[in-house]
Amino acid sequence: MHKKFIVEGGTILKGEVKLSGAKNVALKALAAALLTKEEVVIENMPDISDLHLMAQIVKSLGSEIEFMHPHHITMQTKTIINTTVDLDMGAHLRTSSMVIGPLLARTGEAIVPNPGGCRIGARPIDRHIEGFKQMGAEIDYNHDDGYYYIKAKKLHGMHYTFEKNSHTGTETLLLGAVRAEGQTILENAAEEPEVDDLISFLNTLGADVKRTKPRRIVINGKKELLGGTFSIMPDRNEAVTYGIAAYLTRGDITVHHIQKEYLTAFFDVLYDAGASWKELSNDAIRFYSDKELYGTNIETKPYPGFMTDWQAPWCLLMTQAAGESIIHETVFESRFGYVEELKKTGANIALFNPDVKNPHETYNFNWSDNRDHYFHAAKITGPTRLHNAILNIADLRAGATLVLASLVPTGKSILHGIEHLDRGYEHLEDRLNALGASIKRIND
Ligand code: EPU
Repeated sequence: MHKKFIVEGGTILKGEVKLSGAKNVALKALAAALLTKEEVVIENMPDISDLHLMAQIVKSLGSEIEFMHPHHITMQTKTIINTTVDLDMGAHLRTSSMVIGPLLARTGEAIVPNPGGCRIGARPIDRHIEGFKQMGAEIDYNHDDGYYYIKAKKLHGMHYTFEKNSHTGTETLLLGAVRAEGQTILENAAEEPEVDDLISFLNTLGADVKRTKPRRIVINGKKELLGGTFSIMPDRNEAVTYGIAAYLTRGDITVHHIQKEYLTAFFDVLYDAGASWKELSNDAIRFYSDKELYGTNIETKPYPGFMTDWQAPWCLLMTQAAGESIIHETVFESRFGYVEELKKTGANIALFNPDVKNPHETYNFNWSDNRDHYFHAAKITGPTRLHNAILNIADLRAGATLVLASLVPTGKSILHGIEHLDRGYEHLEDRLNALGASIKRIND
């Protein structure tokens, strides 16, 4: 079925929105819940298609999952019935390889395809694999079928230093270490708040995991994990998306359930741009447009830096700001795919490669993956009057950006590829429509 959005732009968005649970915790919580035979209850789950795909993956391994409500599930895996992740399902989801640790703990074997996810670069898992080898796993990669074949009678604790930041790499090794024999210390571990939410979930199930320094995590392995109930943190990326929607449409949106402490880098850049916001309470922030914005200069970084997921909507916002803006993407090697689409709306954006003295240290991706010579920076000149267009969505965050871009000009825009949005944004069009947008979903 071909799905598309028809958007009538030009309306000012106003009102209130409540954030959903974080996609980048929810998917991993399902992998983590495989670690125990007991029943696990997970609340505040986002109603997104990636969650249903991840649920299918764990079900194929032996889990029983019941959706008590779209946001509330119970899951129990009395026995693992299968140790192979289906190629088609696994290749569509970055988190599919996170089942390695749980499968090894429960059966001694895991067979997982090289994982996929959004098309934003090579996205290898060498840092994850290296860690499992140090825990004593035997790993073969078969180039013909694209599968990792992993065996370990028992994983043992280890002292592992990540060469570079890896968000899911840290979480994947955590899921291996919580039931390994002895102590594991992860150095240069990722600091994203989603990692800490996963740690809280694991500790709820009886694991012993502590972050003893900002970039050090200490795990004391346990023989078994137990059942428990956990509620997923709110989604930071949604917060940024709705905040930017307010400025773009010269509107006024209050975002509820927001955890501002995890958005410091975003507020710093909003300040630089001259944007207005007001804290209404501990977890409610009003983003409102009352003046012109200025161009900004940003570099994406792992937490606590300006997040790579925010750069596409920020790039769009900067098309409306006065002067020149620069965005330097250092986390993924190819995350400007949306720029060609944005240009169809009249945006003035030029991609380039800045002069970087030490690319191996500056970039979070493996510099050797830069073989196709992607562009790593964008120069945006604004303000530009955007116009309607026919746009193609190729990945999740870029997709939300193109939806926002179609809200700015008056006139009708058509967006193809909206299944990418459904992967990670809960009912985006309904929630934008409730704020005053006019977006119609067509299923041809
Ligand atoms: N990398 C390697 N080898 C590895 C691991 C990572 O080369 O073994 C590279 C990646 O290719 C990338 C960089 O290192 O260039 C950073 O990767 P990281 O592992 O930190 O990112 P990720 O775990 O693949 C997660 C989120 C992303 C988010 C980033 C940054 C999930 C499922 N995905 O990706 O979210 O942008 O961390 O915080 O948690 C999204 O939600 O749309 C999304 C892409």
